[in-house]
Amino acid sequence: LARGVTAPDLAGRHVVVSAGGTREPLDPVRYLGNRSSGKQGYALAKAAAARGARVTLVEANTGLPDPAGVDVVRVGTAVQLREAVLKAAADADAVVMAAAVADFRPAAYATGKIKKTDDGGAPTIELVRNPDILAEISADRAVPGQVVVGFAAETDDVLAHGRQKLRRKGCDLLVVNEVGERKTFGSEENEAVVLSADGTETPVPYGPKEALAETVWDLVLPRLRTPAV
Ligand code: CTP
Ligand code: CA
Repeated sequence: LARGVTAPDLAGRHVVVSAGGTREPLDPVRYLGNRSSGKQGYALAKAAAARGARVTLVEANTGLPDPAGVDVVRVGTAVQLREAVLKAAADADAVVMAAAVADFRPAAYATGKIKKTDDGGAPTIELVRNPDILAEISADRAVPGQVVVGFAAETDDVLAHGRQKLRRKGCDLLVVNEVGERKTFGSEENEAVVLSADGTETPVPYGPKEALAETVWDLVLPRLRTPAV
């Protein structure tokens, strides 16, 4: 192959990627959100498409333009993201959960804007847990041999937390980022270790999110059921 031409090693595969960050509405003008830019998920979707896969990208609140040749499903909340990912995963060879999913949502949605009161007080916002989509997909694989990949951003004891999370989620691969200055949120670059359920660890040096995306697909590839359909 010529330089710059990607091998179509994901041809005949359907892959699902989630990207961005969910927003959990509180009232008509407010939400609980996070800082995920969606860039890593978009890089994963573009890389898979370039390698010949049919790609469903479930995106939450990224504002990024649709990548060419990718089916994009737009969602807002964690519950909507779950619906869209489960639907797309029904015939998928691999699912990569790059989205930052809110762990909690407001227990109640106020249909009118929450107003200040004259007594100087402040409301207490009650939260409830959101479903854990990665754990659910890992536990109930829609397709036998479906490869499931999670992402985790950790601050201290990064590897120990990562290994624990990999086991707890039951996924095949977990991409662990160390969160720090200049790293991860909104940046163009990323440094990570990819942990696998079979015990291997693949360090990915500090570099563009595109490079990490290629490494993730390189690690998914040998784990895919054979043959491609
Ligand atoms: N994830 C998910 N559903 C959730 C929360 C997280 O599918 N409700 C997925 C994310 O997309 C990511 C992985 O799980 O791929 C790890 O997310 P993370 O927030 O690190 O894991 P949590 O189990 O929520 O742990 P923590 O308490 O550290 O936030
Ligand atoms: Ca979380």
